Amino acid sequence: MKKHNYSAGPCILPQEVFEKSAQAILNFNDSGLSLLEISHRSKDFVAVMDEARAIVIELLGLEGKGYQALFLAGGASLEFLMVPYNLMKEGGKAAYLDTGTWASGAIKEAKLFGDTVVVASSKEQNYNHIPKGYTVPADADYFHCTSNNTIFGTQMKEFPSVDMPIVCDMSSDIFSRELDFSKFDLIYAGAQKNMGPAGTTLVVVKEEILAKNNRIIPSMLDYTKHIKAESMYNTPPVFPVYASLLTLQWLKNLGGIAAIEKINNAKAALLYAEIDRNPLFKGAAVVEDRSNMNATFLLNDEAHAATFDTMWKAAGISGLPGHRSVGGYRASMYNALPLESVQVLVDVMKALESKV
Ligand SMILES: Cc1ncc(COP(=O)(O)O)c(C=O)c1O
Repeated sequence: MKKHNYSAGPCILPQEVFEKSAQAILNFNDSGLSLLEISHRSKDFVAVMDEARAIVIELLGLEGKGYQALFLAGGASLEFLMVPYNLMKEGGKAAYLDTGTWASGAIKEAKLFGDTVVVASSKEQNYNHIPKGYTVPADADYFHCTSNNTIFGTQMKEFPSVDMPIVCDMSSDIFSRELDFSKFDLIYAGAQKNMGPAGTTLVVVKEEILAKNNRIIPSMLDYTKHIKAESMYNTPPVFPVYASLLTLQWLKNLGGIAAIEKINNAKAALLYAEIDRNPLFKGAAVVEDRSNMNATFLLNDEAHAATFDTMWKAAGISGLPGHRSVGGYRASMYNALPLESVQVLVDVMKALESKV
């Protein structure tokens, strides 16, 4: 039986993506060859890369606005250093919002390149909220934020208007909700949540912000080199790119981001309503900053943990334990998780209440 998969990433993908990508490994486009054994420069694979790059721009509503989409390797973590390498001037300054473990990982790397100002941090409260009312220094080369904090279950609902490039790590909520993506100058996201399998990172960048910081950048870390090579500067991660394309085609056929956002809102509303109603549970993040992708919650009485764990496992649920830095539970409700899976979890929470 297929599990109700709440894994935080790598995570659930649409069933048709598993099936079509399995087929492509056996016989790609009826060519008699596997996707894994053809040249990345072959006509068939170049078409995959071109379509993948184009569908990203289309789904984000960025056509004709000067953006380029790249499928790179190295994970979102490599972008933590590619961003300052490409955008921070020698002796320059960057502004960062510290909303969690991944944001602070990005800050750590930026510090290797220059003056890195943390405009606000919720670390003291174990990142249970998104700081607000901060000031971004006007002379920063860029502002960096993390739209969704996968570990702590918080999500930015508003982004500051600043007069400098805005860079956003959208690893765990890209393609999940409508935003004016043209407000961002550089977006990056590891594929392994809403886009595809682990192994590729999406970078969407407004070309005009690049090549302005006068640094000598190693070729593999230089966005302009990747753009010039149409995301094929070296051998790209062919399978993750192909499976990402299939996931994005699935999303487009469903009606795009507007359609999935409605479903995501319904899933989150269903689960948070139960967390708030059920006297056995409490949410970990402050209500106004709760994430629609990762819902973090705790039992009020840990003594019920063994019973609850047995019950959700018996219901076919997988991947529910919270990250060690929060404890409790984390229900990751990425795009491909159906509403029915959330109903199964809610039913288990209700059943626990009746039982104890
Ligand atoms: C918001 C966020 N940023 C960055 C990362 C790191 O991504 P990667 O493992 O692809 O380097 C993660 C991983 O979960 C994440 O959730």
